[in-house]
Amino acid sequence: MSPVVALVGAGPGDPELLTRRALDRLSKADLVLNDALVPEVLLELAPKARRFFVGKRAGRHSIEQATIHRIMIRAAKRGERVVRLKAGDPFVFGRGGEEALALLAAGLEFEVVPGVSSALAGPALAGIPVTHRGVASGFVVVSGHAPTAWKPVLSGLSAANVTIVVLMGIAARRDIAHFLIERGFSARTPAAIVCAASQPEATRWLGTLESLAQAELASHEGPGVLVIGEVVQLARTLLPSEPMAFALAALG
Ligand SMILES: C[S@@+](CC[C@H](N)C(=O)[O-])C[C@H]1O[C@@H](n2cnc3c(N)ncnc32)[C@H](O)[C@@H]1O
Repeated sequence: MSPVVALVGAGPGDPELLTRRALDRLSKADLVLNDALVPEVLLELAPKARRFFVGKRAGRHSIEQATIHRIMIRAAKRGERVVRLKAGDPFVFGRGGEEALALLAAGLEFEVVPGVSSALAGPALAGIPVTHRGVASGFVVVSGHAPTAWKPVLSGLSAANVTIVVLMGIAARRDIAHFLIERGFSARTPAAIVCAASQPEATRWLGTLESLAQAELASHEGPGVLVIGEVVQLARTLLPSEPMAFALAALG
């Protein structure tokens, strides 16, 4: 028997990218607490469950983290099977670690069901092999939500052999591009923006660090990741037909 609370990774959105374990836990759940990035189609995989939206919505206060803990703990103590469903992987920029600690402190058994993180699915579905042999020997995943999050990580990098993947970085794309160019990255370093990876409205934009700094959003197509590094050059070869519309107009 699996623990009563499961912190489940929903993957990037396409139900086919859910793990079998995630599917199993959803099918047995009595309560699902989900974030904004989890599409409705995944919630339908939990037919018995009550649903509780605990994500952020534009213009509205998001639910306090402590409240999410309380709801999970209360339901689990009542004997309900709880799924905390998070986009991508629950431990990648998802506060899953804090939730695991809260469950532990409450004396509850829990399990983590890893998911396909957008940090991997975004580049892969856009034709970008993040560690292509001879081109990049590693990749760094960083949050772009605040300079204090990305500056210390990016300032230690040199352009050679590394791929940078930025989550929550669309709004900071110009600052990040300028920062890297100032740090010695060539302005011609290939760069990509992949939005809503694996979802019907997915888009891919390909350019350079320089054009990333100037890219204007024609429309905003859901959540997106930035990918920066020489490996991005392979995207047009590996995925020549454009399966996704260009969402962004690159200037210059
Ligand atoms: C709070 S973080 C959660 C990351 C998640 N735990 C993961 O592993 O993918 C939210 C960010 O994930 C990225 N993201 C999530 N789903 C995505 C998708 N389908 N396509 C592109 N980016 C996505 C975006 O950068 C978004 O701003």
